[in-house]
Amino acid sequence: MAEYLAGKNIVLGVTGGIAAYKAVEVASRLRKLGAEVHVIMTRAAQEFVTELTFREISGNPVNTGMWEKVLHWNVEHIALARLADLVLVVPATANLVAKLAAGMADDMLTTTILATQAPVFLAPAMNSNMYTNPVTQENLEKLKARGMRILPPASGHLACGIDGVGRLPEPVEIVSCVKAHFSAVCSLRGRKILVTAGGTIAPIDPVRFLGNRSSGKMGYRIAEEAAKRGAEVVLVSGVSALPDPEGVRTVRVETTEEMRSAVLQDFPDADAVIKAAAVADYRVKHVSEQKIKKSDGEWTIELERNPDILYELGRMKKHQVLVGFAAETQNLMEYAKKKLEKKNLDFIVANDVTMPGAGFRGETNIARLMFRDGKVEEHPLMKKAELAAIILDRVEEILPCG
Ligand code: PMT
Repeated sequence: MAEYLAGKNIVLGVTGGIAAYKAVEVASRLRKLGAEVHVIMTRAAQEFVTELTFREISGNPVNTGMWEKVLHWNVEHIALARLADLVLVVPATANLVAKLAAGMADDMLTTTILATQAPVFLAPAMNSNMYTNPVTQENLEKLKARGMRILPPASGHLACGIDGVGRLPEPVEIVSCVKAHFSAVCSLRGRKILVTAGGTIAPIDPVRFLGNRSSGKMGYRIAEEAAKRGAEVVLVSGVSALPDPEGVRTVRVETTEEMRSAVLQDFPDADAVIKAAAVADYRVKHVSEQKIKKSDGEWTIELERNPDILYELGRMKKHQVLVGFAAETQNLMEYAKKKLEKKNLDFIVANDVTMPGAGFRGETNIARLMFRDGKVEEHPLMKKAELAAIILDRVEEILPCG
């Protein structure tokens, strides 16, 4: 097995939940991938699994409290906090989540987490009522906002006899998240990536607007992938029901003009701009301040042109890599080529939105990437997250060094 985690020190916190036994498999898998695993067990965790099991599996002494005889660390909580490349808590009980949210440090695990500067991943597992309780949700939100990564629990049959959300994800999934964290190699660290997503709208009156079918999924997946690769990511989002992606500064806008000013603000120091948004090309000329009352007969709405944001960026561009999208229903490559040239893009992602599995709303897309030198890459049906990774790979290839 490839040693993806060789040289990485992972502090594995184990708290007192029925799923504590699954942390043994997590420790074993991490070690097989080459990681040094240092286990910290809370007092309650020791009621579920013995220290000996973790000592044997991890090959390292297990920390079970603040006041035991120090084995080989100097000031142990600080040493582990410093040593850690990642702190992973499996399972994270509601009690631990609450203590972390309050900034408490009353045992070895909470003290280590408070003292560490390493990324902290929590895998909560608990009874579903405890999990959905607003206080637990608030605590998790607080921790997320402070930069901790929450690995969402799965749904299914829980040890307390009911079905619901709160099951620990499978150890293999938890370990994949850790692996992905390190293998992302932070290839975009130090880069600023500006992404647009969702649709902009053209208000008609306070209750009506003209809009389009974009859900935001394509752009949000790109923003998430760029954040995973360590970039500073700004996501300018038109209308979308999706939650703000983790680790991304999300700016919500509605109209094309609002999107334009948000994009222009972050453009000068961006390294790359990826415009997946479906931007309204027209706005209503006379927007009514009051709801327009219906009357018999036809209603004609006069429209005027919105600015073409990407065209403007293409003219202003200096060092930035510019990526556009083309959503077409016919003549896909011909229209995409025109946009690539007119908007001065490095490449364009062309999707025929009439094809099943492509374009708006779904989780998948089918795309062709066209480059300035005329090269075309065909990408068959795949998840939008996978296409996002391909797009960012190409951006990385084009980005100037440094
Ligand atoms: O959001 P989803 O539901 O996941 O759907 C994804 C998608 C279909 C919206 C996405 O894959 C896509 O194709 N986005 C671009 C849609 C579009 O508006 O294409 P366009 O051909 O009209 O515009 C070309 C490019 O210019 C786009 O990058 C667009 O963001 C940009 N543009 C367009 C008009 C305008 N006034 N300003 C712009 O910046």
